[in-house]
Amino acid sequence: MSLLDVKDLSVSFGRHRTRVLDHACLSLEPGQRLGFVGASGSGKTVLASAIMGLLPENAHVEGSIVFQGQELTALTDRVFSAIRGRNLSMVFQEPMTALDPTMKVGRQAAELIGLHRETSTMATRQRVEQIFDRVGLDHASRIADAYPHELSGGQRQRVVIAMALMNNPAMVICDEPTTALDATVQAKVLSLLDEELAGVNAACLFISHDLGLVSRICTDVAVIHAGKIVERGSAAQVFMNPQHPYTAGLVATASIDAVEPGTRLPVIEDFFDPRQEQ
Ligand SMILES: Nc1ncnc2c1ncn2[C@@H]1O[C@H](COP(=O)(O)OP(=O)(O)OP(=O)(O)O)[C@@H](O)[C@H]1O
Ligand SMILES: [Mg+2]
Repeated sequence: MSLLDVKDLSVSFGRHRTRVLDHACLSLEPGQRLGFVGASGSGKTVLASAIMGLLPENAHVEGSIVFQGQELTALTDRVFSAIRGRNLSMVFQEPMTALDPTMKVGRQAAELIGLHRETSTMATRQRVEQIFDRVGLDHASRIADAYPHELSGGQRQRVVIAMALMNNPAMVICDEPTTALDATVQAKVLSLLDEELAGVNAACLFISHDLGLVSRICTDVAVIHAGKIVERGSAAQVFMNPQHPYTAGLVATASIDAVEPGTRLPVIEDFFDPRQEQ
């Protein structure tokens, strides 16, 4: 049995039921790293939010998401929150999304352990400082006593990665985890993420529009275009022998190891005329 099995997942919004995810299927084995690539607005975050049970109320969800043998679409909020942050966690693109601006980051991390583990306050504080130290945050004690706005973007993202991994999750969803950072910090945070995921042998769904990043940390790739998963395979297979015109376009435009930040991803119409595809 796979760790995660998403079957025919469709998501639509609002009264008109505008469908933004269309019969998406994907699975993840324990420890596997799957890059999830697609242009802006193609449905990447919607899929991640559906898995995390974080879609807004006006979202209409059809299909199935089975994680560790449990159907997630049927769970109540209370049951879901016991899974979230423990077996399943997420690193958001913008770390402020995951942090409470009114609370010191050490306390936020401690609450996360307290929520999911039986730990005394003293031991919790020690564990928080240990894990901050491990993600390369110098002066872990001082960082723990800082509010999110007192930290740099790179420090905040390290805190969020530490928090996402501190309960040894079976799976971490990373939604463009380094996009908001400058290139040097991005490279450091990426290799940290790589090590930390390997350290707890967590599976990872790594969302990005950046093929270069995906090829650095993922073994497999799925490509989404306009709400549909159009291609799936090993990273080497997808990059060397893309089957779908959209993927071929991505690979042709962006060399695997050097995608310029800010490059516009091609749209499918750049490569072929959809009216001719039957
Ligand atoms: N709460 C919502 N209500 C209505 N439409 C939504 C909502 N959230 C997302 N959408 C729509 O769903 C589509 C997919 O959005 P999504 O956020 O998944 O894109 P994305 O692939 O993550 O893009 P980006 O790379 O820019 O983050 C978009 O057309 C978006 O407008
Ligand atoms: Mg997104």
